[in-house]
Amino acid sequence: MSWCKVVVLSALLSVSWCAEDWTFPPGFKFGAASAAYQVEGAWNVSDKSEGIWDRFAHTVPTATIDGSTGDVACDSYNLWETDIEKIVELGLHYYRFSISWPRLLPYGFANFTSEDGKRYYNDLIDGLLAKGVEPMVTLYHWDLPQVLQDLGGWTNPLIVNWFGDYARVVYSLYGDRVKLWLTINEPMSVCDIAYNTAVVAPGLLSPDHGTYLCNKYVLLGHARAYRIYESEFKAKYNGEISIPNQLMWYEPWTEDDVDLAELAIQNNAGRYSHAIYSKEGGWPPAIEKIMEENSKKKGYPRSLLPAFTQEESEYIKGTYDYYAMNYYTSRVVRAAKEGEVLTAYPIGDIPDLNAVVGVRPEWAQSNSSFFVLFPEGFRRQLVWLKKNYGDLKYLITENGYPDIGGLNDEGRVNYYRDHLKQLLLAIKEDGINVTHYTAWTLMDNFEWNNGYSSKFGLYEVDFNDPLRTRTPRDSARYYTKIIKNHALDLE
Ligand code: BGC
Repeated sequence: MSWCKVVVLSALLSVSWCAEDWTFPPGFKFGAASAAYQVEGAWNVSDKSEGIWDRFAHTVPTATIDGSTGDVACDSYNLWETDIEKIVELGLHYYRFSISWPRLLPYGFANFTSEDGKRYYNDLIDGLLAKGVEPMVTLYHWDLPQVLQDLGGWTNPLIVNWFGDYARVVYSLYGDRVKLWLTINEPMSVCDIAYNTAVVAPGLLSPDHGTYLCNKYVLLGHARAYRIYESEFKAKYNGEISIPNQLMWYEPWTEDDVDLAELAIQNNAGRYSHAIYSKEGGWPPAIEKIMEENSKKKGYPRSLLPAFTQEESEYIKGTYDYYAMNYYTSRVVRAAKEGEVLTAYPIGDIPDLNAVVGVRPEWAQSNSSFFVLFPEGFRRQLVWLKKNYGDLKYLITENGYPDIGGLNDEGRVNYYRDHLKQLLLAIKEDGINVTHYTAWTLMDNFEWNNGYSSKFGLYEVDFNDPLRTRTPRDSARYYTKIIKNHALDLE
């Protein structure tokens, strides 16, 4: 079947397309991502200090299911030139990587910058640019200097200054060459996953307090980094900044759960987006109200969700140049029954909403019970964002699939095909302005509490080989073909 339609993208621009036309818009860019702790290794080389994942993996016996650490990981600290070769082989337009705060500022504070840290990221950035690959840089991908964690980390209001100071150092060093910036990777993971479950660094359980203090200060920290760039660097360098949110799409379990599903989305996407992208700023009103009631029921004298002052709210509002979205998986949600015991959000249920979370039986599984496949959720989430925050520029900053390894990774090929198809439908049918797509991840790496047991790489990495040999999987060839043709291969 083939059919064509006209889609109005804006008042002046309309495009027509046919259902069999699976090409990407002109100028659309493809990349792949990684993160410092997951690939670099060299955890104590030169003057690098301990990060929270170094401490967590070294001292908590249950930190990873295979007892591993990121001490060596993919050894990208030494093998970054090999990484660039693979990036070029794939034909990527850009490469997303993160800077290790404890490598660049070993004391956490901006009083001292490591020469070795400076050199490492200079080499990587220059190496990419020399091959025509654009660097997309994340300032923070979960490796806080331990010295700052000892002072309370993301729950201490002063981190807004510390993060801002760090961001300024990074912009001063690399802003002449880096034009695409991301502040704090997945604040939902940094706050909600970390403090609700303690399964990731810093390994502290504090669902009532840690989660929501962190929620407020990541938003303010992001805003500080944005404002510093805006006032001190933008005129000179003209880069663009956003904060990558991990969005889990929620569907109603039954038709009675439609309002609850919307609340679940507000609790996940909204708690980390509303303050930045909505016209009124602040917390999503429905969540703010529920949190007030819940806090009262628990006997607290004020809401656990810390209020914003008017000034803070104004400071955070509008601190974006585009919306950065990480998407992996979806869920269904229903009201809990009387006496039903709930598990911890966001790995499990949503106690704040008295909601039980599950998946539809027909959704395909990956090797991980967390990463259940519902590609339509990707498109629906984009439609929700446009409806709630407007016709922004959207960049997909992560999307990917875990398996247990092997070079013939059909599951991953299918995942990319099915998700890119939904992305194209969002662009062509729903008129959503998506400009970038980032595959997670370039190569197998340290997959947090799953250690090296869960593989997300377009390239396989042999972790038993001191050379950490990288070998392309079928998915790497599939992705390259899409990039080369600038069109989706649905075969
Ligand atoms: C994170 C990555 C992680 C990936 C797969 C994302 O949420 O940003 O660091 O490896 O998920 O779990």
